[in-house]
Amino acid sequence: MCGIIGYVGPRKVVPVIIEGLRKLEYRGYDSAGMAIIEAGKLVVVKKRGKLRELEEAVRGNAYEATTGIGHTRWATHGRVEDRNAHPHMDCKGEIAVIHNGIIENYQTLRSDLIKKGHAFSSETDTEVIAHLLEEQVDAGRDLLDAVRGTAHQLQGAYAFLVVASRFPGRVIAVRNLSPLVLGVGDGEMIFSSDTPALLDYTHRIVPLHDGDVVEINDRGYFFYALEDGHAFTRAPMIVQWSAASAEKQGYKHFMLKEIYEQPVVIRDTLYGRFDVATGRVDLKEFADSPVPERISIVAAGTSYHASRVGKYLLEQLARIPTEVSFSSEYRYQQPIVQPGTLGIAVTQSGETIDTLAALRLQRQLGARVVAITNRPESSAVRESDVSFITQAGIEIGVAATKSFMAQLIAFYLMAISFGQRKGTIDQEASLRLGGELAGLSQKCEQVLEYVGVMEAIARKFYQVHDMIFVGRGVNYPIALEGALKMKEISYIHAEGYAAGELKHGPIALLEQNVPVIGLLPRGPLYEKVYSNLQESNARESPLVILAESTDATAQGLASDFIPMPIVGELFSPVLYTVPLQLLAYYTADRKGLDVDQPRNLAKSVTVE
Ligand code: G6P
Repeated sequence: MCGIIGYVGPRKVVPVIIEGLRKLEYRGYDSAGMAIIEAGKLVVVKKRGKLRELEEAVRGNAYEATTGIGHTRWATHGRVEDRNAHPHMDCKGEIAVIHNGIIENYQTLRSDLIKKGHAFSSETDTEVIAHLLEEQVDAGRDLLDAVRGTAHQLQGAYAFLVVASRFPGRVIAVRNLSPLVLGVGDGEMIFSSDTPALLDYTHRIVPLHDGDVVEINDRGYFFYALEDGHAFTRAPMIVQWSAASAEKQGYKHFMLKEIYEQPVVIRDTLYGRFDVATGRVDLKEFADSPVPERISIVAAGTSYHASRVGKYLLEQLARIPTEVSFSSEYRYQQPIVQPGTLGIAVTQSGETIDTLAALRLQRQLGARVVAITNRPESSAVRESDVSFITQAGIEIGVAATKSFMAQLIAFYLMAISFGQRKGTIDQEASLRLGGELAGLSQKCEQVLEYVGVMEAIARKFYQVHDMIFVGRGVNYPIALEGALKMKEISYIHAEGYAAGELKHGPIALLEQNVPVIGLLPRGPLYEKVYSNLQESNARESPLVILAESTDATAQGLASDFIPMPIVGELFSPVLYTVPLQLLAYYTADRKGLDVDQPRNLAKSVTVE
């Protein structure tokens, strides 16, 4: 949510900012702006709209500046207008600030500042930071002290960067709850909201912690405590991702590329964690702790749907009572954490603020907490007792696909491992489950061959206004996820239902323009789901059915049939998810929509 970038080094900074913002645009894309120190003067350029508007605005200017900051916005306070775009400046136009987060007490600060004579030019919460800094600098403080003095007055979540013409060659950053990473290059330093934007410059990164104030200048980087100003240092960690992994590599969209990467993601997440010969799963993450007596999972969005599958697996395979809550609800439901509870926070980014807050509360209430996350450098890793890092690689498409797949695999591994340790899974079952796990990647490749089929179905239905996705048992969350994907990127109203619930209300919606997408793998619930789909058929809804390729009965009922590989019901979510992702993708693409940057959404939601 909002992308921020800051650079000090030998390069001309404008292209560094533009390229950095391009990599961060998935975080927000309402407006973009930059502030540079050009020949001792602060130059600010900002534009509403996508990054190309900013690019247009700076094109043709031979800026020489080598220090600057840039921002791509996801609006919270203030409409999407040029004046509300970041950076924001003080009255004299000498100090510029970019910010990610929400300053909760900005209204009080703003009225105080207005009383003191400050003139505001935007509706944002961020602008107060620039004017507070002005007060501090006017009182004779150095920029570093001014930043600390200002941050002490702020309430809420923030990561902000500051440049000032009176202090050239310096960028100062502060972090409190919103993500910020420092890249340590060779003679150059770069701040970013997220790691992918740093990879063209360096693989040495230092994630900032809450309460860190960091200055970068031509001598290097310097950490100070926000609290009392004492200097300290943090050693860089090395990230393995390649810069190319954050590129589209010939695919039309990141989302399509990421859907195609799923067979590899399955392999990579399983790698080294289970023995194909015996089916034994070994998770070093849990080696030192007993099998939990109960589990409480918190997550948001797509990660929540993976968690719902996780609940099913943990209960079925390991017989561990498991509850799942939306992170944003957990805190407000007065949760009860009994002894022996393992908390699990599932978050691709590791930075979703609601999930971090829920994780903190779980720990406060006495739970040991594991973070299932795709980002080893994230806050979730730092704040949990132990972390399970999924191996999805960098995911750029706002609609999560491969990270969901990796989360599912993490849950299979955890459930099987706990079940084996508890004795609910014996040797024979281990072999069977291991065999299923080992076959998933290849079967997923097979499913990806249906691209043409899904594209054709998308062509048929892309103009409908409503779609219903149904599944039962372990596939009910997959129906929810299929509907979420469709909503997110194609803007078609889509709902996921437990197939058995259709008759209790949603069936009233069915008619010939409302397709029903049914998940019908073989298993104990097959007959039930089949009947539910027949009920839809009787209401004239077109029926898109995903079922085993050999299932002639399902094929007979379907208006469009998606032939799926044969797989145990418990493992079907892994495969049945993929056609739904493709359906959403091709529907949105057919509608000519911006698949990777859907309206109003952001990849990482760092505000409550
Ligand atoms: C946003 C994204 C979703 C994602 C959710 C949770 O809403 O647009 O794709 O599922 O956040 O993100 P997390 O990083 O915590 O998994």
